Amino acid sequence: MPRFTKLSAYKAIKAHHLEINNIQIRQLFEQNPQRFEQFSVSFDEILLDFSKNRLTNQTMKLLFQLARESEIETWRDKMFNGDAINFTEHRAVLHTALRNRSNRPIYVDNKNIMVQVNHVLDRMSLFATKVGDGSWLGYTGKAISDVVNIGIGGSDLGPQMACRALKPYQNPRINFHFISNVDGADIERKLRYLNPETTLFIVASKSFSTLETMTNANTARDWFLKNGTKEDIKKHFVAVSTNRQAIDRFGIDPQNMFEFWDWVGGRYSIWSAIGLSLMISIGVSHYMDFLQGAYMMDQHFRQTPLEQNLPVIMAMIGIWYNNFFHSDSHAILPYDHYLRTLTQYLQQTDMESNGKSVNRWGERVNYHTGSVIWGASGINGQHAFFQLLHQGTKLIPADFIVSLQTHSIYQEQHHMMVSSTLAQAETLMRGRNYQETITEMKEAGISAKEIKTLAHHRVFEGNHPSNTLLINKLNPKSLGMLIALYEHKIFVQGIIWNINSFDQWGVELGKQLTQEIMNEIHSADEAKLHDVSTNALINYYKNKTLPNH
Ligand code: F6P
Repeated sequence: MPRFTKLSAYKAIKAHHLEINNIQIRQLFEQNPQRFEQFSVSFDEILLDFSKNRLTNQTMKLLFQLARESEIETWRDKMFNGDAINFTEHRAVLHTALRNRSNRPIYVDNKNIMVQVNHVLDRMSLFATKVGDGSWLGYTGKAISDVVNIGIGGSDLGPQMACRALKPYQNPRINFHFISNVDGADIERKLRYLNPETTLFIVASKSFSTLETMTNANTARDWFLKNGTKEDIKKHFVAVSTNRQAIDRFGIDPQNMFEFWDWVGGRYSIWSAIGLSLMISIGVSHYMDFLQGAYMMDQHFRQTPLEQNLPVIMAMIGIWYNNFFHSDSHAILPYDHYLRTLTQYLQQTDMESNGKSVNRWGERVNYHTGSVIWGASGINGQHAFFQLLHQGTKLIPADFIVSLQTHSIYQEQHHMMVSSTLAQAETLMRGRNYQETITEMKEAGISAKEIKTLAHHRVFEGNHPSNTLLINKLNPKSLGMLIALYEHKIFVQGIIWNINSFDQWGVELGKQLTQEIMNEIHSADEAKLHDVSTNALINYYKNKTLPNH
């Protein structure tokens, strides 16, 4: 497989970048009235406008050439067909099988995994229906009123984000809660208001060994056992995992285990049984629409020429800024209250996938890989961090995401929000030059003296790039499409950078050390094994909190 910086397209893009790096997007619009038509693509529920970027037809042509020289299509097919492309863990990458609504057979170790996928989906559906319609009863014969998902990372962020995003579809009889933080404050505050007789805990952990999740699960079980008995646990605790033995050890009835498999990465697991809380919340039929949306995006990704392919376009524009303009970060700005935790979710999906520095040949890469993904609800961001986007010194490409139709009854407020989205994208791109600033200040009746001293501070350089994603309406199907769009974008970038987007060794070392420090905190001896800073901090903590130890 060819190395990124050795590809002829890479070299051609470097030369092209030198030629056009001063390009002004504003001028590109002035020169070409067809720019929107030429640089926007739609697929079903989603329109992507990428015209407000520093690029020309030639840029896109070279970026697609780079994608082809990187053998994107071959790698894409390998992923969908179950090849072990997660080469450091020798695993297939098949979250797409979980939403394979065509049911075409997919083989791992010569077994058609669709059989197990469908089996678990059927079991989830049965269970979710019972909890949803109130026929799953707690130990005193009452229906479940509260579902608590205990998990972290992919076992938390996905279901939490999706439940929030699809709140208008939520079963009104049930409240949903998510506990992830090992800080006891998180679980304590939630348990305080819960009734053990009517609470269902979903312990969600791919490994079923994650310290934070197991600690919270044990706390929840102890809390429950103050009222119910061990025998009652099966009515109130279910587990979602790949690790059957650990579930047994925890004491959860194997009947209450919803399985998934090692070919599903944690951050791609919302499509697996990790989505159980979501299924209970929105019901089986809407959950199937969610899978269907993702499946449609998969088909789009697999079948559409690169030039019209949404994930490929977004990925290649990201590469353009990351590797040729050396921008470090990428802002994701949902203008939709229901999508307010989308950025956090995508932070894990993207940064845990592409935050890598060693290529598939085991060499340290000499170019930038994954960007820092950040952002928040755009409308709140405007009143907080957008200043830096508009007038700061950094080049930060952004994605604006907004729905055309609102779930809210306050239609006028929706018009205002859409207007804000479009205004911000336009302002970032167009800016306001010195001459325009002076004219506006004069028109506002500002004195010549003030204009002289203040005008420079009011100039907006503009030329800040962004994509705008318009979604018809935020619903289960469009949410499925949107998430799958970003997943495939991340996949394409990982291939271009020659890295493995599907392992996460970078999170392991800190976990090991946590265990060691925990032991030291409980030991009567002074901590001595670390650097002087860490030793001192451990000892300081012990002296302050456990003075008689
Ligand atoms: O530590 C990172 C990580 O392994 C993520 O990849 C994962 O989503 C999260 O922890 C939770 O892991 P698990 O589902 O095994 O508890």
